[in-house]
Amino acid sequence: MTRSTPTRTQSAEPEIRAPDDAAYAEAARRLQAGELVAFPTETVYGLGADATSDTAVARIFEAKGRPRFNPLIVHVPGAAEAALHTRFDARAQALAARFWPGPLTLVLQRREDCRISLLCSAGLSTLAIRAPRHPVAQRLLSEVGCPLAAPSANRSGGVSPTTATHVTHSLGARVPFILDGGPCRIGLESTVLDLSGATARLLRPGAVIAQDLETEIGAIEDRTGAAPAGDLRSPGLLQSHYAPSRPLRLDATSVRPDEGLIAFGPAPLPGAARTINLSAGGDFVEAAAKLFAALHELDRPDLAAIAVMSIPEIGLGVAINDRLRRAAAPRDDTAAKV
Ligand code: TXA
Ligand code: MG
Repeated sequence: MTRSTPTRTQSAEPEIRAPDDAAYAEAARRLQAGELVAFPTETVYGLGADATSDTAVARIFEAKGRPRFNPLIVHVPGAAEAALHTRFDARAQALAARFWPGPLTLVLQRREDCRISLLCSAGLSTLAIRAPRHPVAQRLLSEVGCPLAAPSANRSGGVSPTTATHVTHSLGARVPFILDGGPCRIGLESTVLDLSGATARLLRPGAVIAQDLETEIGAIEDRTGAAPAGDLRSPGLLQSHYAPSRPLRLDATSVRPDEGLIAFGPAPLPGAARTINLSAGGDFVEAAAKLFAALHELDRPDLAAIAVMSIPEIGLGVAINDRLRRAAAPRDDTAAKV
């Protein structure tokens, strides 16, 4: 899987490369040619494309099987570059100064002269933008010299990937080239904050928590539980977004022998076919980092269901529960998934 193949166009096997000088050069060359490259960020792996190229961005939707009206996050090195494309107001400046580079996405109005593909905005006048902290993502951005559109590197409706292997399992040959930066440190997607209007709105909870945002810019409106199905303002909030194919049972107090168990804390329930403890010590950061890998690993045909022990709604626990509730929600195949 790691070897390069001379017949790239028809290659069935993606090329997974350790991030050395040659791999960065090859990744940048491919991106400049409009190809997709998956790369690690501190949150999850992104499926990257040149954000200024409509064709390249369209390939993302094709590879993901993602409905067109779902907007994409654009990755830039920092606030200076973000201000070239969006109306980067005082609130954005304050938040970027504190949290960038890092796991915070800001939804802002596009500038009139914005060169980013309109496909990234999915018909909206806004753009979601963030500066990732991961050194591989930063180096890639500097080598390629253009902003990168990158949703999570999974098929639409699948679980977000936190390793290069997850990417190949989900996308297969749809992503021909992957920079392997090891497992993602945070393991859950960035916080999405909508600053496109006068009121700041939290659209997706993530590693940067609401209280810390409010310290910088004052009161924000929490829209994370409020988005009705089909609300195009933030399609990623649709209920069945994060869905393994096994049924998921939340707040389990007992577990059957044919089930997998996602445990949390020092006393995992006994009797599961397979148990993954997100954190024996009850550490939310550790739990978040393991969450998607656990869902991937327990999403196996030999398990009847995945039982999940309850996780306190505190700090990062709120974001973890949000992900788990979406994974457990009844499937609605007519709904848009990202
Ligand atoms: O951590 C992350 O954010 C990862 C890494 C790769 O950076 N990316 C990611 O992208 O999770 P994606 O496409 O899977 O999720 C993007 C989220 C969706 O919920 C989408 O609806 C929302 O951001 N979004 C993007 N653009 C938006 C916009 N203009 N207005 C409102 N929501 C937007
Ligand atoms: Mg996603």
